[in-house]
Amino acid sequence: MYCKKIKLQDFRNIENEEIEFSDGINVIYGENAQGKTNILEAIYIFARGKSFRAFKDKETVAFNKSCAYAVLEFDKSGKETTLGVEIPKYQTKRFYRNKVKVSKTSEIIGEFRSVLFCPSHLGIIKDSPSVRRKFIDVAISQLRPIYIKMLTQYNSVVESRNAILKMEPQEREKFLDMLEVYSGELAYLCADIALMRIDYIKKLDSWVRIFFEEMTKGREKPKITYETNAQENDFETRELLKNKYFDLLKNNLEREFKYGATLFGIHKDDLKIELNGKDSRFYSSQGQQRSLALAMKMAEGEISREYSGEYPVFLFDDVLSELDDTRKQYILANISKRQVIITACDKSGFDKTEVANFIEIRNGALFKGEEIEKSENDENIDIEAENEDEDIPYEYDPDDIGSIDDE
Ligand SMILES: Nc1ncnc2c1ncn2[C@@H]1O[C@H](COP(=O)(O)OP(=O)(O)OP(=O)(O)O)[C@@H](O)[C@H]1O
Ligand SMILES: [Mg+2]
Repeated sequence: MYCKKIKLQDFRNIENEEIEFSDGINVIYGENAQGKTNILEAIYIFARGKSFRAFKDKETVAFNKSCAYAVLEFDKSGKETTLGVEIPKYQTKRFYRNKVKVSKTSEIIGEFRSVLFCPSHLGIIKDSPSVRRKFIDVAISQLRPIYIKMLTQYNSVVESRNAILKMEPQEREKFLDMLEVYSGELAYLCADIALMRIDYIKKLDSWVRIFFEEMTKGREKPKITYETNAQENDFETRELLKNKYFDLLKNNLEREFKYGATLFGIHKDDLKIELNGKDSRFYSSQGQQRSLALAMKMAEGEISREYSGEYPVFLFDDVLSELDDTRKQYILANISKRQVIITACDKSGFDKTEVANFIEIRNGALFKGEEIEKSENDENIDIEAENEDEDIPYEYDPDDIGSIDDE
């Protein structure tokens, strides 16, 4: 997969710009606060269905403007596709495929695949289990859209089940049969979701090992496993795993009544990430944590390629700071056969790398020499808006994936 061009209008500090990319390493450079991350943010909206850093879509609309637009042109298996998004400040955003409006955001998920790495992804190693679950859920969702449906269903059953667990004992009596039905549904969903996660984590683990072996010349050995209440032998069949989750739910009801919440299930599971046998959350250095998170992202790209036959587009926001020169050069050499769009404050870190395209950004615009380039075309980007007034029912919110919080 190869991202050819993005056109942006009134998207954060970018007024009107068209940015072309090469197949290979693209370096977007410029001083702080010029709009480098804003460009990656816009591209990634098409992979994930929403911004990776805005709490609300409208934050991406330029100050004093009413609507942001982005159009992405990309090549997928030799076929050119255009995806567009219109983000009105006071309405739901709308996506377009080849200028035709799509009815649900979920319809475009998986079409343009991209792997993003930004500084906050260090949280995958350092932060709470929910961050690791989100990493894996978003990664699997891009490959297997059915996974999103299963998670949505799971979250809704947990919610209904929790409503019963929260009831006063007398009232609850009438709903005990219902509670058991919900436990059964959850157990099946847990088994299916956990099996998909385990399958993914095994692949992730083997790729991360390869990257680390090469990057550290065998000195650092990572290991990634799925952490859950079920034991290794429970994973042999779907039925065994379902029974395990069902037993956990059935045998801990008193505790669940006390907390008024579902305490077992895939919304409590975690990824255990170790380096040389030690939990990397507590024992790895900053550089090791960054290398691990980056290796996991590169592995995500490899798995996506195994799945679809094509590499996704790698978006690397400020990844190279904090890495020593050996690690930096390894990463740059390793990604050189893929399309990578990478941001940095200056070009100097890339003097040993074959960069296909340097893009300088100043004040939200491409800088091509003496003058800041500004498009003379004041017309709106044409992403075609048939039935403009019709809002897309907001059925899919990727942020809701696995978002049932830890207690
Ligand atoms: N909705 C918005 N409208 C207009 N400008 C915005 C909006 N949201 C953010 N900005 C501006 O965008 C700029 C930040 O852009 P961005 O995060 O892309 O910077 P950057 O080039 O990646 O910087 P750094 O090197 O510090 O990471 C800031 O100047 C900020 O004020
Ligand atoms: Mg930035």
